[in-house]
Amino acid sequence: MEKGILKISQISKIFISKYPVIAFFLILLFFHSSFVKSESYAVASRHHLATDIGMKVLEEGGNAIDAAVAVAFALAVVNPSAGNLGGGGFMLLHLAETKETLSIDYRERAPKKSFETMFQDNSGKVIKGLSLNSILASGVPGTVSGMFYASRKFGTIDIKSLINPSINLAKEGFALSDFQAKNLNKYKKKFSKNKEAKKIFTKTNGFSKGDILVQTNLASTLKRIAQNGEKEFYSGETAKKIADFFQINGGLLSLEDLNQFELRILDPVCGNYRVYTICSMAPPSSGGIALVQILNILENINLSEIGHNSKEYLKILISAMDYAYKDRAKYLGDPDYFKVPQDLLTSKKYANEIYKKIQEKKLPSKVNVNIIESEETTHFSIVDKWGNAVSNTYTLNTAYGSGIIPTGTGILMNNEMDDFSSKPGHPNAYGLVGSVANKIEPKKTPLSSMSPVIVFRDGKPYLITGSPGGSTIITSVLQEILNILDFQMSLEESSKKSRIHFQHLPDILFHEQLDDDLIEFLKKDKKLINRKLGEIHSILLRKDNIQAFSDKRRPDGKASTVYK
Ligand code: DON
Repeated sequence: MEKGILKISQISKIFISKYPVIAFFLILLFFHSSFVKSESYAVASRHHLATDIGMKVLEEGGNAIDAAVAVAFALAVVNPSAGNLGGGGFMLLHLAETKETLSIDYRERAPKKSFETMFQDNSGKVIKGLSLNSILASGVPGTVSGMFYASRKFGTIDIKSLINPSINLAKEGFALSDFQAKNLNKYKKKFSKNKEAKKIFTKTNGFSKGDILVQTNLASTLKRIAQNGEKEFYSGETAKKIADFFQINGGLLSLEDLNQFELRILDPVCGNYRVYTICSMAPPSSGGIALVQILNILENINLSEIGHNSKEYLKILISAMDYAYKDRAKYLGDPDYFKVPQDLLTSKKYANEIYKKIQEKKLPSKVNVNIIESEETTHFSIVDKWGNAVSNTYTLNTAYGSGIIPTGTGILMNNEMDDFSSKPGHPNAYGLVGSVANKIEPKKTPLSSMSPVIVFRDGKPYLITGSPGGSTIITSVLQEILNILDFQMSLEESSKKSRIHFQHLPDILFHEQLDDDLIEFLKKDKKLINRKLGEIHSILLRKDNIQAFSDKRRPDGKASTVYK
């Protein structure tokens, strides 16, 4: 070994003395390339205005957490179907200095007066729509608490200046894209049931591309929040407006619920997959456990050898998904209320047992239910020049949540209560079933599929990713991970590949465009439905480049990178 080192240093000396100019440039190149990597930063989000706001924060010296807070508030204005103040979500973050990876669970909690059978009639039948479109549909929102916590604990910039751009966007308005105009028109009936939502989000002859959407009350609310801090939302004028509205209209959500909202700092669920470490959300999300479980199963085979989207590849993916969603339904719920067997579900031993079973067994047939095709959650990924990373997914649940705005606030409320199991075995909007683990209880958090992910290589963030899509979030993110880690695709290549989704119940395989022979093959076992799956916003930090990409399955997204 020593001999080898001696040899290299001797060779270098000879090279430098013989070719000093070339040596000079080679040394310069070496230092330049190590320098550029540390100066790079990126944002990928659902809306170009939000991405631009995040990039500006990073440009001006803010860190990834500052940018995340600014992006989250911006999306609450420019992406009203999912960006929110009236909802909740998960922020997974990696701090470069301490090498810590942690997550903030700022998802909604059930109001204190909630109870197990609140969406059932006297005979125990689930009342259609009650958990989705009524005053009972909302959990206690956590977004404002989550963003203030993140900023206070890990940010470097005064939160007021991070909220300011959003106040302006709400006050002055922003131009609707074609997609947004059509999407608002699609939900006209829903908005029309609430006075304020009708005023803001409907237009007599419908919105068109380029129309300016002004949200005056939201601007005032944001201004008060910027001035008075998070207490404005949880005990101030805004809190009172929200609570009064719910109380007057027969809701359960109260001022006490808002006062008592508490976020949780959770250790992420991490698992090793080949040379990588994958971290995502722990319960109350099912994302981390399901992803690690599926990846552990898949680690038994060399996927790149069997070929991307080949028959064998799809078969093993479907089977692994089947098992993970079966366990999701049975074992996952809010960990403060139900003991989730996390260690077992994420162990390699358990995955190996499943892998053996998969090889022996054909999948059983099951019943069908309707599933809402919704991409109305929103994910953003951010990395700063110091190597801090944020992977954040938050939502109102289905498009524009319950469609209810408490008078005078401009805040669309979530319909996250539908993510509980209204009754054991009764499917939610995404066809997901649950049991006691996810039954409704006061102050409990409904089970989620939101899966913000950070993949690490050699201890450093490598891939930051996530997606909307309800139950299909987990499988969309899974396939992004496989495309990047097993098939070495670029983010753009990966996003062009067709995705599949299988969730045990219902017995339907959702798929994007696949070759005819694959369709014939899959049809033998399964009912198939062709639909779009996921909307990924990722950042990839390969050795000598940084990529950011916003899925083109939806317009309006924007990924920006600065690579210096
Ligand atoms: O937490 C969950 O799993 C759902 N509330 C997410 C909803 C969603 O992704 C909606 N559509 N994309």
